[in-house]
Amino acid sequence: MVVPSNEHYGWAKEVKEFDDTKAGVKGLVDAGVARIPKFFVHPPESLPAPSKTTLELPTIDFEGVESGGARRKEVVEEIRTAAGKWGFFRIVNHGVPLHIMDAMLEAIKRFHEQPVEDKMHLYSADSRQRVRFNSNVPQREYDSACWRDILTCVFHDDQLDPDAIPLACRKEVQEYVKCMIKLREIMAELLSEALGLSSDHLSRIECMKSEALACLYYPICPEPDKTLGTPKHSDTTFLTLLMQDNIGGLQILHDNQWVDVPPVHGALIANIGDLMQVISNDKFISVEHRVLAQPVGPRISVASFFTPSLRASAKPFEPIKEILSDENPAIYREFLFKEYYEYYKTKGQDVTSALPHFRINE
Ligand code: OGA
Ligand code: NI
Repeated sequence: MVVPSNEHYGWAKEVKEFDDTKAGVKGLVDAGVARIPKFFVHPPESLPAPSKTTLELPTIDFEGVESGGARRKEVVEEIRTAAGKWGFFRIVNHGVPLHIMDAMLEAIKRFHEQPVEDKMHLYSADSRQRVRFNSNVPQREYDSACWRDILTCVFHDDQLDPDAIPLACRKEVQEYVKCMIKLREIMAELLSEALGLSSDHLSRIECMKSEALACLYYPICPEPDKTLGTPKHSDTTFLTLLMQDNIGGLQILHDNQWVDVPPVHGALIANIGDLMQVISNDKFISVEHRVLAQPVGPRISVASFFTPSLRASAKPFEPIKEILSDENPAIYREFLFKEYYEYYKTKGQDVTSALPHFRINE
């Protein structure tokens, strides 16, 4: 952990004052701050050096994938390569209607841009609350905050009481999540096939049967060189499906270089999570990514995080037996999803992945 040199500058007081506004980072921008509060400042080594590479993330075209046949085989092959080498890929012709995607982005903007009085009742740091609005107040002294606000909607076993969803985006969230669930089903089949398993394997083990929608709002930042929109991390999910608007700023770490993931209207991004890396015994990789703070915005993105059903959460996960052999023995021990997630949270910002902790012979 990096401790700022002038200790005790009133970190806790500053954080509390910000938290008490319940207005998030957007509230600071609306108040016209020209300098970001100190607890948003990240240590120089975690700040972005300009990306030099022109590498392009793979794009996979899902056209014709459901009819089976030759095209499906090709797609499965492309997924196997992309999930194994990049952990991230863009999907086009995924079947989610463009108007539903655009309406969702608009609705999330509308939620965050409504008067503070209308959203502050949802402001909460309690992760058990299924629908909540918050910013990202650091829990541990000297962890840095980042320049974004979030509306989270958690669907356990694909379910959430519609009345719990804020009116500003209720209809759109319901429509969008339906599409995400449909695409999750397709992804589960394709990923199963890419692992050499029967098509229904991942669906049967219910490892992606719940989803949390993180509806993110990244306001314009007055000092973008000092902070981040989202710090470097890998996702503690099985799979993440990400939609971003046209602003950009997402980067992924590939072969030790930060690669820009520029927006493509209508495309979605699939991202292998830590737990999928575990059950695939490293056949698929979960890679680190981040979002820059920018002098332009606001940027809107929606991450759909897929995690196990309630029933599957009660049982441990481990590398899938069918893909193991004498030459490919299990690299990870079995553990509960909750155990993984709790361990990850204790790591704070100094370690970004919890995977090594669950490796055999660490
Ligand atoms: C995340 C994430 C990326 C984005 O929320 O885990 O990586 O573009 N978001 O907002
Ligand atoms: Ni992420």
